[in-house]
Amino acid sequence: MIIDGKKVSQERIRLLKKEIQESGLSPGLATVIVGEDPASQMYVRMKHKACDDVGIRSIGIVLTDDVTTDDVITHIKSLNEDASVDGILVQLPLPAHIDTKAVIEAVSPEKDVDGFHPRNIGALFSGRPAFVPCTPGGIMTLLREYHIEPRGMNAVVIGRSVDVGRPMAALLLNADATVTICHSKTKDLVEEVRRADLIVSAIGRARFITKDMVSPGAVVIDVGINQDENGKLCGDVDFESVSTIASAITPVPGGVGPMTIATLMENTFHAAKK
Ligand SMILES: NC(=O)c1ccc[n+]([C@@H]2O[C@H](COP(=O)([O-])OP(=O)(O)OC[C@H]3O[C@@H](n4cnc5c(N)ncnc54)[C@H](OP(=O)(O)O)[C@@H]3O)[C@@H](O)[C@H]2O)c1
Repeated sequence: MIIDGKKVSQERIRLLKKEIQESGLSPGLATVIVGEDPASQMYVRMKHKACDDVGIRSIGIVLTDDVTTDDVITHIKSLNEDASVDGILVQLPLPAHIDTKAVIEAVSPEKDVDGFHPRNIGALFSGRPAFVPCTPGGIMTLLREYHIEPRGMNAVVIGRSVDVGRPMAALLLNADATVTICHSKTKDLVEEVRRADLIVSAIGRARFITKDMVSPGAVVIDVGINQDENGKLCGDVDFESVSTIASAITPVPGGVGPMTIATLMENTFHAAKK
């Protein structure tokens, strides 16, 4: 089974648009981007377009990369106080000279639609999530939509980043899976992954997960966005071979990626309602 994130996200956006119209609310999302990284600019453009599609006002704060951490925090504070702004998204990565942790902590937890503020991360790990980070949140939606029940599964999350791997593990644990988190220092990655009923790969290495690492019938979720040696977009998973053995698998593109943006829209509406 191919898990079609594009289709599910379009349906979620359609339903959300209707819900926003009926609510009489006018949700607002502010994005903050520092510098001119083309990939970050593209992601921010996609987020603004999704806002237009769904009926969320978007405000773009664009800062040059000679700003200081304090400058960025000043902008964040004024967005925190702006009643027309329900959600604030700081596009990562920030330039190296900016203190990313301090910037994330400056975002009001009530407007933290990315779910990266330590208070929201803490709530997630204590089993009472407020804002769920968008990529793992989107993956949980995909599992629900395809009736894949994590309860009791051996779930292996590969990657321990704060934006994907760690919150993914917390969500799967909250959903009663038995969770293992692997990373670059894991002793026997192949053995760990082979034991999995559910694999979530968030490594960032082209076609790293091969058929011999996957047990027959496993569910495979590919978060990676990579370019192969020919410059072709691909995931962490060798889709061609792994799809012959997995029971369900997400493609790249068209799997997890579109769900991330749909979840951001849902989180922004959630913030507006609150
Ligand atoms: N589809 C989406 O919407 C979406 C959203 C976010 C990210 N992504 C993509 O997902 C991928 C991961 O993103 P990220 O932000 O989580 O990346 P990240 O911060 O670079 O984290 C990568 C993780 O993978 C682990 N890792 C790297 N090489 C490994 C190896 N050989 N064996 C085992 N673990 C290994 C690292 O381990 P250590 O901690 O030990 O270094 C780290 O925990 C990237 O391709 C990114 O573009 C996609």
